[in-house]
Amino acid sequence: MRFSPLPPSSIRFVVIAIILLLAWLAWGSVNYPEALWAPGNLSRYHADISACGDCHQAFQGTTAKKCTSCHNDKSFAAGSRPNVAEFHQQTIRDGKPCQACHTEHRGALAQITIGAMLNPHGEFVFRATGTHSCTACHDFSADLKSRSYLLDNAIVRHLMDEGDGAHRLGKMARCLACHGGGRLEIEDDD
Ligand code: HEC
Ligand code: HEC
Ligand code: HEC
Ligand code: HEC
Ligand code: HEC
Repeated sequence: MRFSPLPPSSIRFVVIAIILLLAWLAWGSVNYPEALWAPGNLSRYHADISACGDCHQAFQGTTAKKCTSCHNDKSFAAGSRPNVAEFHQQTIRDGKPCQACHTEHRGALAQITIGAMLNPHGEFVFRATGTHSCTACHDFSADLKSRSYLLDNAIVRHLMDEGDGAHRLGKMARCLACHGGGRLEIEDDD
């Protein structure tokens, strides 16, 4: 006697259930690919991109070729500081994979440049200064790991002027040490 775990009459229902599940997956993949397949939300830089295929090549993951459809020699030359542009133009010529240094799907507020991820300020720094990226105040390109490479620009100078003298280099990186709870105003008797 052949062993069958299911009574023959139920096989029809199992088949129907599988077909329904596959149909749901197909429908979801087309309509809600992010919720169904993506490992996490895209960063705020890329949140507007709705097509997974803008960065992913089927069966290959992300490829530099996809990234360079938006970030290429021209865009780096037009939008980046010279050393950042040159570095990336060389990276593209060498065919290096972008995801060696850039990540994604870590949530809207995540930094997507490895090495620029150590953030001593918290999200507070963006809210307090109206900036959107670490590179508004820093140039990390010369050293990916540790030092802060503060830029000398209008945003940084303005930040230094605020703080009633409390904003001093070497003493201010941990914003939340003084701006407890993310508050901008600090009472005098603190
Ligand atoms: C802006 C470019 C970008 C877009 C758009 C994007 N991804 Fe990704 N995705 C990446 C990068 C970069 C990685 C590698 C992540 C890492 O190393 O941190 C990745 C990784 C993944 C992974 C993990 C497996 C792997 O290949 O490493 C999955 C699954 C994935 N993405 C699914 C999706 C889906 C589904 C969408 C569309 C909703 C999507 N992605 C849209 C850039 C993107
Ligand atoms: C459809 C166009 C598009 C594609 C494809 C795309 N990006 Fe972007 N990316 C943008 C836009 C728009 C911004 C925000 C404006 C800017 O900084 O240029 C951005 C910003 C960035 C930033 C700057 C983050 C910061 O800290 O300022 C990095 C790094 C980046 N993308 C890497 C990648 C990588 C790696 C890929 C491929 C996995 C990729 N992008 C694919 C459009 C794209
Ligand atoms: C060896 C590491 C490394 C690789 C590989 C790399 N990047 Fe970057 N990328 C960085 C660093 C570091 C920064 C931040 C530079 C700075 O201080 O502005 C950056 C910044 C960026 C920016 C923002 C530019 C700006 O002016 O702020 C974009 C866009 C970007 N990378 C895209 C790419 C793409 C696309 C690739 C693949 C072709 C790639 N990166 C490969 C390290 C890398
Ligand atoms: C050593 C303490 C201290 C640290 C650390 C510190 N601040 Fe401040 N900050 C102050 C004081 C004091 C004021 C003036 C408070 C006031 O006007 O009520 C101030 C004011 C400000 C203001 C102006 C607020 C306003 O409403 O006028 C901004 C913006 C600001 N800080 C941002 C930052 C950021 C961003 C960091 C981290 C990079 C930081 N602060 C680190 C003490 C500090
Ligand atoms: C509005 C300007 C501004 C922005 C945006 C900003 N920083 Fe800073 N950062 C500063 C200032 C000012 C200092 C203090 C420099 C000093 O004391 O020499 C600093 C210091 C640092 C340091 C050195 C910390 C230490 O202990 O010496 C690191 C690392 C750093 N920032 C990383 C980041 C990262 C990562 C981001 C993005 C998530 C970021 N910063 C965004 C202004 C900024």
